[in-house]
Amino acid sequence: MNLPMLGHTHGNRSAVTCHLKCDSACASPPPNTSSEPTFAEIARGQVSRRALLIGGGALAAGAAAPALAPQLAAATEGKRAPGESAIRGSLPFQPIAPVDAAEDAMTVPPGYEWTPILRWGDPLFHNSPAFDPENPNAEAQELQFGYNNDYLDIIVTDRAGREALLVCNHEYTNRAIMFPPSDNEAQEAEVLRTLMAAHGFSVVELKRRGKGRPWTYVRGGEKNNRITASSLFSLTGPAAGSDLVKTAADPSGKRVYGTLGNCAGGTTPWGTVLSGEENFNGYFVADPTAQGNARYGLTNKPSSYSFEKVDPRFDATKPDYKNEPNRFGYIVEIDPTDPTATPRKHTAMGRMKHEGANIRVDEDGTVAAYMGDDERFDYLYKFVAKKKYRAGDSAAARRHNLSLLTEGDLYVAKFSGVQNPGNDNLGRGTWVPLTQNGESVVPGMSTAEVLVFTRLAADKMKATPMDRPEDVEPNPRTGKVYVACTNNSQRGADGKPAIDPANPRPANKDGHIIELTEHKNKAGATTFEWNLFLVCGNPEDAGTYFGGWDGPVAPISCPDNVAFDSTGNLWISTDGAPSGIGKADGLYRVPVLGKERGHVVQFLAVPNQAETSGPVIHDQDGSVFVAVQHPGEDGSWDEQQSYFPDYVPAGSRPDRGDWRGPRPSVVQVTRA
Ligand code: FEO
Ligand code: CA
Ligand code: CA
Repeated sequence: MNLPMLGHTHGNRSAVTCHLKCDSACASPPPNTSSEPTFAEIARGQVSRRALLIGGGALAAGAAAPALAPQLAAATEGKRAPGESAIRGSLPFQPIAPVDAAEDAMTVPPGYEWTPILRWGDPLFHNSPAFDPENPNAEAQELQFGYNNDYLDIIVTDRAGREALLVCNHEYTNRAIMFPPSDNEAQEAEVLRTLMAAHGFSVVELKRRGKGRPWTYVRGGEKNNRITASSLFSLTGPAAGSDLVKTAADPSGKRVYGTLGNCAGGTTPWGTVLSGEENFNGYFVADPTAQGNARYGLTNKPSSYSFEKVDPRFDATKPDYKNEPNRFGYIVEIDPTDPTATPRKHTAMGRMKHEGANIRVDEDGTVAAYMGDDERFDYLYKFVAKKKYRAGDSAAARRHNLSLLTEGDLYVAKFSGVQNPGNDNLGRGTWVPLTQNGESVVPGMSTAEVLVFTRLAADKMKATPMDRPEDVEPNPRTGKVYVACTNNSQRGADGKPAIDPANPRPANKDGHIIELTEHKNKAGATTFEWNLFLVCGNPEDAGTYFGGWDGPVAPISCPDNVAFDSTGNLWISTDGAPSGIGKADGLYRVPVLGKERGHVVQFLAVPNQAETSGPVIHDQDGSVFVAVQHPGEDGSWDEQQSYFPDYVPAGSRPDRGDWRGPRPSVVQVTRA
């Protein structure tokens, strides 16, 4: 694929990542032109009350310098920070210092070592061909581990802790560094089919000798499975079968081939895995004047991936396929325990650039899913299932729970800056219903329209435009919900309202994390309280505020995926730190409770141009897992060939093997 000119300002990522991952959304005006007050405006009053403000810009005149900088030295020198050992029950480690963005290595704490479990192209089945990037082949790729792993879970399946299922998704591909240039059209067509096969999901059995030992994958495991951009999915919920999702090839409107752009996700209490179809627009050529298309960034220029050259359904300017893009942008649910099960896309949970979904189940069985729509000035959502969760693993309970996400109500968040009397750190908010009792409550929109053009519905209901909500996850220990707002290059620009420099900054490059508490801590609540848990950045920079901890903190930028350890500490992986704080992306731990609340330390850093994804924290097992996505993204095939002319595997990057080019990989970090 020929990359177009990449001359635009591309925010926090490399231009190539921007182009491939989100069709360079940053280069265009945000598709939400709502005039609702932005999150920054709402938060302004809230943060200005806090003590550790570090002024910048207009507000900075006379502002005190931060007291944090001297203490930062201890953390950045890799010493054990004061109080480090006081965090009980979790993985003890000496925080690492921030790593140079150009460093082409995994960096882990002293006393830990890392090994890849699976790399792009690893053979998953007995009949899988060996990895051979010189000869791209779609059939081979369907039997091999996919590209650009993002969401990840390692689900231990036996009491002895020796068997597990690895589940991860494969968000997108980078043709330029994966395969050599083609000599002719037929060759390139095979490349495109191979790229389609490198999308989707992998489910792979793992084994190890005992707890705390490194895992290896089981080639030919019974549960091993690949789902691709061509696999059959069923569409569930009220919009399934509606005219909006019918095509000439699928007059039922219930059978969709493939899943695309899967980003973050969550594992449900009933054992399935959810994932969000995020930047699906980049795969289609479409009529930008058709209903909803502009709001989802669909254009009629050639797609970033060129799949329309090998599969006509990606050209939605053709009448037969005009609704094909309406069949992407959903939360998908896959059952990793059953490779024969048809994966599903749930229309009841709305259509957007879904980052992911995480489930909370209350004691009374109420099920809520928290979801972000990752685009500048897009929204935070919650889905509440109609039926209650049924405990136990009987076949009947399982069947019941598998139906939970097909029926329920969808809400969008509206934040208010009203101070909570008696507690000046808390703002308030409302979950505004888009559907109630499963039916539209949005004026002028049918239920199917609300669920297929959810952004338009949320616009009408005047939801609060956010700073790119990524992973949204309830803390299993407390029920509080953490919302990672990764950054927003447009804040304060292009006629957007000016913002308070004490808050997420104009052109907010470092992002922040919101802590949301449901009313009476109930999953089904329709109101909530919130505060800013963490405003990210470099503590040495004016304009950065860290939440609540006045000891040393690690610089952190662009929070993306989050996870919790067994004691409820928040772990944050980042995507975009090189453009934010000028350091490599990494994985960080921060307690949310107790006297160390807000104490950010760094656990690992990923290689050059990679993003840290899918953290999984098995602290009681001494293990941490990350999906290393898009290492070496900006390279070319020729560069990959000579990327490591003197490559020595020991302790280097997650690409051990015969091929020298960088391979997206799932990496485990265990005690040495
Ligand atoms: Fe694929 Fe929103 O990150
Ligand atoms: Ca993400
Ligand atoms: Ca997560």
